[in-house]
Amino acid sequence: MDKPAIQYVVEEAVSAGITDILVITGRGKRTLEDHFDRSFELEYYLEEGGKTEELAEMRRIAEMANIHYVRQGEPRGLGHAVSVAAEHVGEAPFAVLLGDDIMHPDAGVLTAMLGTFDERGRSVIALKEVSAADISSYGCAAVKPVEGNLVQVEDLIEKPAPEEAPSNLAVMGRYVFGPEIFDLLARTEPGRGGEIQLTDAIKVLAQREPVYGWTFRQGRFDVGNKLEYLEATVELALERDDLGPSFRKFLVERLARDDS
Ligand code: G1P
Repeated sequence: MDKPAIQYVVEEAVSAGITDILVITGRGKRTLEDHFDRSFELEYYLEEGGKTEELAEMRRIAEMANIHYVRQGEPRGLGHAVSVAAEHVGEAPFAVLLGDDIMHPDAGVLTAMLGTFDERGRSVIALKEVSAADISSYGCAAVKPVEGNLVQVEDLIEKPAPEEAPSNLAVMGRYVFGPEIFDLLARTEPGRGGEIQLTDAIKVLAQREPVYGWTFRQGRFDVGNKLEYLEATVELALERDDLGPSFRKFLVERLARDDS
């Protein structure tokens, strides 16, 4: 609607208590850096024009978190993208949030994953059931139950053919790791699609120590998928105080026209 998908991802991190954010970026994405920066010129005109709400929103975005950027250089896969964060992250635990996956603010997935990491001191990945037909678009996990929403990962396969998939639990784009993942990524050979796969490094990690999966059902949209992008827009618009009521009225009238 009125903010780019990446802002939902940054807001999710901030609301889970993460304020140091490194964006892995690439060529042709400089608008992203400008979006989170202050724009003195625009702020000046907003102030002159008395647009106080817009001005406050712009400043809020710029002050939301400490945002840093590093370029991936070559697109060699998700595992490679994560590995370029090694120097910035150092020895601290960290979370990975994929920019195409938007979480509903109420889903609470990242917060729950960070809580699990704090309790157990081990990596946690987000898992959600998908249909057998869809599993080949995701990393797929074989798991055993632990308690409640928590499972332990026994095996992982990146984008398996449906007949190879050990389950229909798909890895969603949220991960919490300790720094040991970087050594494993450095040793990970190109896998599916000739790319360095994060899934392959987690599989090795799970053979050495427990890796947990946080399972959830609702509140995730893949905005790299056109239909889900539309669904996310409609869902989030309907919930807004300023737009929701009139947008709902529009949708009802619009659908009634199709039915008549
Ligand atoms: C990536 C990961 C995959 C994961 C997915 C979640 O795939 O490689 O394991 O399930 O994100 O969105 P991509 O969608 O980048 O191909």
